[in-house]
Parts: sequence; structure tokens; C-alpha cells
Amino acid sequence: MAKDVGFTTMGDVLGDGAAPEIGIGMIGYAFMGKAHSNGYKTIPSMMYPPPAIPVLKSMAGRNEEAVAAAAKRFGWERHTTDWRDLIADDDIQVLDNGGPNNMHLEPTLAALAAGKHVICEKPLGRNPGESKQMWDAAEAAGLKHMAAFNYRFVPAIIQARKLVKDGVIGEVFHFRARYAQEWIIDPNFPLIWRLDKDVSGSGVLGDLGSHTLDLARFIVGEISAVNGRMKTFIKERPTAEDPSKTGPVTVDDAYMALLEFENGAIGSVEATRFGNGRKNGNRFEINGSLGSISYNMEQFNELEVYIADTEPAEANGFRKVLVTEAFHPYWENWWPHGHIIGWEHTFVHELHHFLDCIVNDKDVAPMGATFEDGYKCDTILAAIAESDANGGARVEISY
Ligand SMILES: NC(=O)c1ccc[n+]([C@@H]2O[C@H](COP(=O)([O-])OP(=O)(O)OC[C@H]3O[C@@H](n4cnc5c(N)ncnc54)[C@H](O)[C@@H]3O)[C@@H](O)[C@H]2O)c1
Repeated sequence: MAKDVGFTTMGDVLGDGAAPEIGIGMIGYAFMGKAHSNGYKTIPSMMYPPPAIPVLKSMAGRNEEAVAAAAKRFGWERHTTDWRDLIADDDIQVLDNGGPNNMHLEPTLAALAAGKHVICEKPLGRNPGESKQMWDAAEAAGLKHMAAFNYRFVPAIIQARKLVKDGVIGEVFHFRARYAQEWIIDPNFPLIWRLDKDVSGSGVLGDLGSHTLDLARFIVGEISAVNGRMKTFIKERPTAEDPSKTGPVTVDDAYMALLEFENGAIGSVEATRFGNGRKNGNRFEINGSLGSISYNMEQFNELEVYIADTEPAEANGFRKVLVTEAFHPYWENWWPHGHIIGWEHTFVHELHHFLDCIVNDKDVAPMGATFEDGYKCDTILAAIAESDANGGARVEISY
């Protein structure tokens, strides 16, 4: 017998009746549309036995030809140029919102009102007010909600968090992180939606900074105060529609912030889109009273761990831990140790977690980020922007 989880499209794909089907509707067919489609399609075979079989029902985008091609390529049953079709579709139980940031609020609220669970890309809102509306609506509806902070699903990062929570590096003194990309360093790079505050809410702060600040909260704990600075290096760019015309860049190209944590730790974090030579350079280090942990996402499966006072002293130092053992997070699903995985697997883990929470009525937090986490992250982002507007003054965080 299939488990009764209240869905209309109960399936028996495995032949043992164990996994229900869940219909997915996806907004966006580009970067995140591709990453999430790949994640869903990998779950049934690799995250075995799956908690549910995601059925790719319908994908929405603005351009008919492009969304039709993407839906066909990624295996969606149908496509639409009007996201409202996803909301009205009774075959869809989960809205996956991979639209730009100005598309997060309205479709998410509409989906929740229609009784659909929602996973929404980060940053959850363009500001904390938007994300609070989404969190309140999801809680009021009693539906599962997740902010798509996929770096919580890197096995090495989960392992780092566990080492911190288990006290292996002792009392945490420092969290420092640097997330550097280079993709808009060319002044002729066009004025795409990510550089328009009306659409994106902020620049690199909300884009890459949100990942860093979510990881800071995930690994170290709540942030109580910030000082922030932001910088826009190139203030005019060719418009995407007509390169002979220019328009204003209305967001930050780089940010830096100091953090105070409730547990007494302090942090320094930064991100830039002008890190010449850095493609997706996402690193952090945590220093504690008993040791340190360092992570560089370009070495996706590795942690550097230092435990002070290990013997013999002559051999003491940072050691490289290859996080690929069967006992490491999520590794029972993958390969023999040393046969590494990569960035795309974060989406497999993340979407698997969300489906598991829906079908088995588990809590999305603390391993996954909820809309509450999305709201808290957006509140910290807003505090950094407020600090910058006041010359870097200290801003206390209050939710
Ligand atoms: N978790 C991550 O690591 C990660 C990485 C990149 C982007 N993101 C987030 O994912 C979201 C999307 O980013 P992206 O890089 O995929 O952007 P993108 O520009 O590559 O794709 C945006 C998609 O949204 C669609 N879209 C825009 N307006 C729409 C509308 N009105 N109706 C239907 N579809 C519409 C576009 O057609 C496009 O397919 C953003 O919130 C971004 O911050 C997250």
C-alpha cells in the first residue's frame, strides 16, 4: 500500500508502492531551472529509496520558445508563459520558485494560498518585509516552506557544522568568509536584472552575501550586530536591450561586514563580483579555542581541520579531511570513498530534504533553511545596507 499523504497523484513507480508522486511546478528555466530540474531527476535513483517521486509537471518562463525548449530538454511534461497556470494546476503540489528576486513574493503567496508547499530561491525577498510576508503566509497555511540555501547541503559543510556543534574546535572566536566572483568586471557587461535594485533588491550583498550569512548562522549561530560597507565600482552600463544606450547600476558590486554573534564570536565577511580571476571563490574559516576549520568550495569535498595539542607536536598542523566516507553526510547515497561529488549535488540533497519533510511531515529546520531563515538573512542584509548608509555604523539586529 502506498503511504497516504493526501496527494492526488499517488504513484507506484518503484513497484513496491512505497513512494508517492509529488507534482512539481517550476518558475524559471535558466540557471536555477536547470540546476533544480537536474536535482529532481536524480532523486529517485540516487537518493534511494526516495521519500517521494518528484514528477516534473510544468515549467514557467516568459519566452514561449525558450521555455518550451527547456521543458523538453529537462523533462517537464508541459510549459507555460504564465506562472499563474502553475498555481491553478491541481497536479502540482509544490511550487519551486526559481524566478528572479522580484518574482519571489507574488507567486509564492499565491501558491501558499492555493495549498501548495513552496521552495523559493535565495535571497527570499528583496527586503525583510517581503520575506516576512512569505514566512507568515506559509506558517498560517500550515505548509512546508524552504529558502533554497543549497550550500547547507554540501557534505563537507554539514560536517564542519557538526564538528562545531560537537565542540571539537571548542569555543568559537572567529568566522571569516570571502565569496569572490569576477563576472561583471568588464565595464561593457550589460545591465542585467541582477544589477537593477528594483528587480534584485541588492547586488552581491543579497546574491553571494546571503549564502555567507546563512552559513554563518547555520554553523556558528545567531548574529546580533553588524557594521557594513558597500561599493559600486561601475555606475553605468550598456542596457541589455540596446548596447548603444546606458543605464545606471543601482546595486552594490562588493560588500564587507563585521559580525557580532550572540555566543560571543566575531566575524568578518565579504563578497565581490570584481574578484579578478575568481570564478566562484567561496571560502570560510572558523577559529575556536581547541582548533580551526577551513573550507574552500573549489575543493568541494575537502575540509581543512586543525586540532591543537595533538601528538606528536612535530606532526601537528592543519590536516586535509576528504569528506567522502560512508559515514559522512549524504555519502551513503553516492560512491565508494574518494570518488568525489560536486556543486550540482547540493540541489539533489536540498530537494530530497524538502520532499522528505513534506511526505513524512518532518521539520525543514535546522538542516534546511525555512522562510524564517530567509527572513532573518534578509534582516541582516538590510542591517548591513543601513550600516553602510551611515558610514559603517554598528547596527543591532532585531527581528
Ligand atoms: N542557490 C544558488 O546557488 C543560486 C544560484 C543562482 C541564482 N540563485 C537565485 O535563483 C533565482 C533565479 O536566478 P537565476 O540565476 O536562475 O536567474 P536567470 O536569469 O538565469 O533565470 C531567471 C528565470 O526566471 C524566468 N522569469 C523571469 N520573470 C519571469 C516571469 N514573470 N514569469 C516566469 N518566469 C520568469 C526567466 O525566464 C528565467 O528563466 C534568483 O533568486 C537567484 O538569486 C540561486
